[in-house]
Amino acid sequence: MKIAVYPGSFDPITNGHLDIIKRASKVFDKVIVSILVNSSKTPCFEMEERRALIERVMGDLPNVEVDCFEGLLVNYVRKKGAHVIIKGLRAISDFEYEFQMALANTKIAPDIETLFMMTNQEYSYLSSSIVKELASLGGSLEGLVPDEIMQDIIDKVREHEERLKKR
Ligand code: PNS
Repeated sequence: MKIAVYPGSFDPITNGHLDIIKRASKVFDKVIVSILVNSSKTPCFEMEERRALIERVMGDLPNVEVDCFEGLLVNYVRKKGAHVIIKGLRAISDFEYEFQMALANTKIAPDIETLFMMTNQEYSYLSSSIVKELASLGGSLEGLVPDEIMQDIIDKVREHEERLKKR
């Protein structure tokens, strides 16, 4: 069984992520969307909120599951019985960082392959950070995140900002 892990912060999931998940699910027997629990970044969305948003928009993809992980990605990938890490590549600006990560992961785990999928051109500028910035400043999220979670994202980003202001 060919299992792939699609790791990320997903803070929150965007249409760009969703596009990669759908396309990867056609290539692999199983795709595990894996949310990084602890990163140096402080997430806007709690782990369970990020998971719930992903699950709501995944639809009925039978071979996709959502999970979370901490620590070294390659250890987690092995634990899941997978051999492939999927990464989405947007613009050339992504390349340097992703190249470095892929090489570092290959150095410590030569049995695990990083596979890059080119992001759909429509979403080549899109990121979770852009989504949060637009939501906080009242810009439209139309077409950037799935419709069914759009309002939840706007509400959460604003609530998060209010909380930060009160500190
Ligand atoms: O969505 P992001 O924030 O770009 O995802 C980054 C992620 C989660 C893929 C990356 O930070 C990661 O793999 N973190 C786990 C720690 C690790 O294994 N690092 C690689 C060794 S240098």
